[in-house]
Amino acid sequence: MDKIIEFKNVSKNYDSQTHALNDVSVSIDKGEFAFIVGASGAGKSTFLKLIMHEESPSQGTIIVNGTNVSNLKRRKVPYLRRNMGIVFQDFRLIEKMTVYDNVAFAMRAIGSNPSAVKKRVPYILSLVGLSHKAKSRPSELSGGEQQRVSLARALVNNPAIIIADEPTGNIDPEMSYEIIELLSKINEQGTTILVVTHEHDLVRRFNKRVIEIEKGRVVSDTKQNFSNDTSDINEGSDVINDALKPSIDEVITEIKGQAEEIGLASDKED
Ligand SMILES: Nc1ncnc2c1ncn2[C@@H]1O[C@H](COP(=O)(O)OP(=O)(O)O)[C@@H](O)[C@H]1O
Ligand SMILES: [Mg+2]
Repeated sequence: MDKIIEFKNVSKNYDSQTHALNDVSVSIDKGEFAFIVGASGAGKSTFLKLIMHEESPSQGTIIVNGTNVSNLKRRKVPYLRRNMGIVFQDFRLIEKMTVYDNVAFAMRAIGSNPSAVKKRVPYILSLVGLSHKAKSRPSELSGGEQQRVSLARALVNNPAIIIADEPTGNIDPEMSYEIIELLSKINEQGTTILVVTHEHDLVRRFNKRVIEIEKGRVVSDTKQNFSNDTSDINEGSDVINDALKPSIDEVITEIKGQAEEIGLASDKED
């Protein structure tokens, strides 16, 4: 399998006291879905920030999509992010814009034409169940709704990689399940997905790779250390999966098809 993300002996020290990551070597294949778990302060957000180059590593090499991003120049960062949909822990929505414009903005930023935006944004908003809030401002929404706007914005450009930092941190278990289910369906269409969470129940319900970080080190990785047979644990969720399948499958196939139609294919070169 092609590696889409590779960390080679990566350390990140914010200052002499804070060793947020310590000699991490791990790789993610194209098309994988992985959960990143670990206690608060373990280094999970740092791991994601290094991938999206919000931070640079103190040591080691990070390759994303074939590019060494370890010391990426600032002007190159937008090109890296073009292939990424990012769901931030704190949403980072723009308060003076409506929900619609928060999502449309992500498309306009990469130069999509207005007719593509007009077609795509309502679609994505319906996918995350927010069509009726298109004209609202972020402050008029609940935490769960804001999180779904943030997810819509991450999906809208049909990125090769989706990175989500605790996307279920502020929402109820049922909605959390639906968000992961949605990401899981998007993953089935080939998008690589990384999700940070500390909800163990949620992780158990999905049969995915789990990378555990503790005090800046990868201490377990289901891909490296264990057999992947967790079918017994996941039996219950299959029932729910089946119940949700038809509608979500249809919508995802449709949004992917539409993305290609309007030139948003994720493996498109700049
Ligand atoms: N910008 C920063 N400056 C200094 N220390 C930081 C910064 N960001 C994170 N840290 C520290 O690095 C460690 C890892 O943080 P983080 O990656 O946010 O952990 P997690 O997401 O697992 O909770 C923590 O000790 C945290 O306090
Ligand atoms: Mg964090």
